[in-house]
Amino acid sequence: MAILISGGAGFIGSHTCVELLNAGFDIAVLDNFCNSNAESCKRVEKITGKTFPVYTCDIRDKAGLDKVFAEVKPEAVIHFAGLKAVPESVQKPLLYYDNNIAGTVTLLQAMDDAGCKCIVFSSSATVYGDSNPVPFKEDMTEGNTTNPYGTTKLYIERILKDLCVSDPDWHVCILRYFNPIGAHESGMIGEAPNGIPNNLMPYITQVAVGKREKLSIYGDNYNTPDGTGVRDYIHVTDLAIGHVRAVERALKTAGAEIFNLGTGHGVSVLELVKAFEKACGKPLPYVIAERRPGDIDTSYADASRANELLNWKAERGVDKMCEDSWRWQKNNPNGYDE
Ligand code: NAD
Ligand code: UD1
Repeated sequence: MAILISGGAGFIGSHTCVELLNAGFDIAVLDNFCNSNAESCKRVEKITGKTFPVYTCDIRDKAGLDKVFAEVKPEAVIHFAGLKAVPESVQKPLLYYDNNIAGTVTLLQAMDDAGCKCIVFSSSATVYGDSNPVPFKEDMTEGNTTNPYGTTKLYIERILKDLCVSDPDWHVCILRYFNPIGAHESGMIGEAPNGIPNNLMPYITQVAVGKREKLSIYGDNYNTPDGTGVRDYIHVTDLAIGHVRAVERALKTAGAEIFNLGTGHGVSVLELVKAFEKACGKPLPYVIAERRPGDIDTSYADASRANELLNWKAERGVDKMCEDSWRWQKNNPNGYDE
């Protein structure tokens, strides 16, 4: 019996594959490679010394999914597959609703048909919206998402909860990630965004490696200690280990459960820049720019539920996150493209 990883070739998926294999699980990856490269799976095999099947398939392709489920017979799915670029979701909402929501519905239908009723889902702290106080707790009201990407996460959470009400055999674990950064410490896998990065850490690493001239810091007049935005950055390996604990619990626990995966500590943009300068040993050119629409001043997790029920806690600090992001970028200046 294996765990099927949708979107397993991507940034968080590839790191989760490593930790699942290290924990002794059999896995299979399913991806359409719209935002990833099959090379990441080969590198996961090199890191772990284990092999696994990789299926090229879109989660909206029911017939394709049926074939994969018939072959793999998974006991659970960890569902990463989705589009995640916030500005693109504002430009192309139908693409996001189709890929993320319709895709998830099709995946759930294939799971139901195959009798596989255990899923771990990649949600986001974005579902806490812009009006909850920090730290964010799982029982706070969700909503007020500021873009279609965030709305897809909110709706998928609701679909999963409705499914559990309709059928007590479903086991659902919803994970709300805070801000994943870092890379596997081997430097062999990491985040490889297409085009100009939207997120802070990949932008920083591309400035440090000389691919971009300077970082724009979006606003220094937020209600935070140094005026720049505060986020809960979490090492992707800690996040990946969180998925191992989550799938172990989900296999044993019926109904829908929600967990924040964050460190519980906020770090400002300027603090992250300083930590990265230390890691790469050179100054990072930056300018202060306008605020980015939709950004909130502060976001960090109350991670106590995951600590109690998953026996999970983030272990790696900001310095380690920066060192590992830098090693990955330095060794792979063009990501997985040679
Ligand atoms: P990623 O883009 O690196 O990985 C997503 C993977 O899904 C890619 O390999 C892509 O090719 C695949 N995919 C997309 N649409 C697909 C489809 N229709 N069929 C099959 N495969 C498809 O992104 P990531 O950072 O690894 O994120 C993984 C998940 O976590 C996503 O659902 C994302 O929304 C969520 N998430 C990410 C963050 C973050 O900061 N990275 C934060 C919160 C939530
Ligand atoms: C963003 C998304 C969120 C998504 C997450 C992961 C928005 C509004 N939110 O979160 O929905 O789940 O990515 O994909 O887009 N910053 C700069 N300069 C940059 C980039 C970012 O100063 O070039 C700042 C931002 O203003 C913010 C912090 O860095 O204060 C982190 O930004 P980012 O990495 O994009 O993550 P979030 O905005 O938290």
